[in-house]
Amino acid sequence: MFTRRINEKTEVALGVPQFAEELYELTDTNRTFLKKWLPWLDSIKEPNDTKKFIAGELQRFAEGKGLFGVIFYEGRIAGVVGFNLIESDNQSGHIGYWLGEAYNGKGLMTDSVKDLIELGKEHYSLRRFEIRCAVENSKSRAIPERLGFVNEGTLRSVEKVYDKWYDHVVYGLVV
Ligand SMILES: CC(C)(COP(=O)(O)OP(=O)(O)OC[C@H]1O[C@@H](n2cnc3c(N)ncnc32)[C@H](O)[C@@H]1OP(=O)(O)O)[C@@H](O)C(=O)NCCC(=O)NCCS
Repeated sequence: MFTRRINEKTEVALGVPQFAEELYELTDTNRTFLKKWLPWLDSIKEPNDTKKFIAGELQRFAEGKGLFGVIFYEGRIAGVVGFNLIESDNQSGHIGYWLGEAYNGKGLMTDSVKDLIELGKEHYSLRRFEIRCAVENSKSRAIPERLGFVNEGTLRSVEKVYDKWYDHVVYGLVV
């Protein structure tokens, strides 16, 4: 397993198909929690859907276009973090993440995103990092705010999550 040690109890591993079963289980048990902010839950109906998603992300990783990391807390999958998109020409990385509800409130995501930024600087020579959060998603917004990102403005009606349209705050960090 290719991992980055975040702290004593937490590691982030490159997502591989072997994680599909456990990651699907975490997704499935957190459907209601995640559906509030994430639009793709209905497309993940069985472990094989997670497996196909991971395979697609590995392909994008191989092309240098993305990085899908899986967060392990005390040896169990707790959530995901990564670059949804790496724009190598613009040296820019777009960060996305989610955690199972039981793993909220421990600082796991703030620490994992902090490490992802270091990885982005070191291995991809990134100089700009971007995180977009729904205006109302205060727990997600708190992550870039804790890490010193700048609120660069609001995109109006930019994402449909089930039947509701959301405005997004764009957070940027230029290093
Ligand atoms: C967004 C999301 C990842 C935030 O999770 P989180 O647990 O609040 O974030 P962190 O892991 O960074 O933990 C921060 C919390 O742990 C606390 N904490 C404890 N130890 C900490 C530490 N060492 N460092 C930072 N925070 C710590 C913080 O006080 C904070 O708690 P608070 O909100 O009560 O103040 C999670 O709620 C989630 O997955 N939501 C659904 C999906 C989603 O919205 N994804 C993002 C779409 S843009």
